[in-house]
Amino acid sequence: MPNCAQYDKLPSLQPLLFNPCCYTCQDYTWALGKKEIAAVKPELVVFSDRNSRNFQCGLPLSCSYMLNFDNTQMAKRVFSGFRPTGKQHIGNYLGTIQNCVSLQADYDCVYCVVDIHALTTLESTEALQEDVYEMVLDWLAAGIDPQKSIIFVQSHVPQVEELHTLFSMLTPLSWLLRVPTFKEKVKMQPQNVNYGLVGYPVLMTADIALYKGEVVPVGEDQLPHLELAREIVRRFNSLYGFVFPEPQAKLTSFPLVAGLDGVQKMSKSYNNHIEIAASPEEIMTRVRTGFTDPARRYRSDPGHPEACNIFALHKFFTPARVEEIASECRHASIGCVDCKKILARSISSALEPFREKRAVFVAKPNYVTEVLAEGANRAQAIAEETIKEAKEKMKLPRRVNLGDIRE
Ligand code: TRP
Repeated sequence: MPNCAQYDKLPSLQPLLFNPCCYTCQDYTWALGKKEIAAVKPELVVFSDRNSRNFQCGLPLSCSYMLNFDNTQMAKRVFSGFRPTGKQHIGNYLGTIQNCVSLQADYDCVYCVVDIHALTTLESTEALQEDVYEMVLDWLAAGIDPQKSIIFVQSHVPQVEELHTLFSMLTPLSWLLRVPTFKEKVKMQPQNVNYGLVGYPVLMTADIALYKGEVVPVGEDQLPHLELAREIVRRFNSLYGFVFPEPQAKLTSFPLVAGLDGVQKMSKSYNNHIEIAASPEEIMTRVRTGFTDPARRYRSDPGHPEACNIFALHKFFTPARVEEIASECRHASIGCVDCKKILARSISSALEPFREKRAVFVAKPNYVTEVLAEGANRAQAIAEETIKEAKEKMKLPRRVNLGDIRE
């Protein structure tokens, strides 16, 4: 064990220690009173109180010598939620998953599968478990790393339901009835305009706020929800005192990936997608069904790559040859069938490392379950602290344990 003099040097090690997620190691995380030991290396320990984000560093248990870390340089927390949609497709991959993977380098990331949100629109919950499993498996194989990020299922940390209820008391109904996604849903499912649908953005606010998320990577359609989230936490903070940072949207430059039908964006519900876990043969079959430039009826007709969604996919998957392919298409020196074969091969080879990693994880039958169990534990530890803090600030009557008042 190092002595106290050696601990003087610790601040200079700060960058090493900052991101507790990076250093929370499954084998070494345990609770010590109110503090969570965020990182343990043989020679030093970092204690964290994740909510106040006060980091302290020192010897475990016996050493009274503690250093308070300057936490201003701490990585900001990213929070994002995703509805469980089962196996992911290349639109999800290029748009969302890759972004989540790269955010891990600069942020303290929390990624949540929002199964409760899914209940607002689901007709049946039969496939829910499977959809969560397949989606998380794809995330892990694509590089979302449970050593760096917290990955968990929304309903596994029920404190979100509690915070949702508390927030619902300070959210005017008029704000919620104005939300564009709510109005859309009312049109789409007039037979099922449930209470949860109106409260959707309140639950989403609770998601983010429970983990004190500051940065929320989302697509444009979610901006009104984020605006509302800021208004709700602002209202909480001004009524009861500061607890929650105002979350900022981080618009991801989502490349809009066209579906194989050439009309809609790629989506499972239009069945115009290619799964990232698809085998090379399956990729070939799917690509073969893809629509191409409608003006090119015969092999000898010159094509218009800019109007062809197979070409649009070449831009992502065959970047080194796009110019060449465009020109060959324009001069009709390549036919659509060959062009599709090239595309299928480039998609296949781009996704090969992913398929290999996925196969390794599939071979470990409990892997996903373990990741989610660990994620739920870590998420819940943060959630409990936040709820406690919120209730205290709200001056809700304290619950006292009988043991504390009886002799
Ligand atoms: N509303 C988001 C969607 O439909 C999902 C979501 C739920 C979410 N909670 C969130 C996104 C919190 C970001 C942050 O895609």
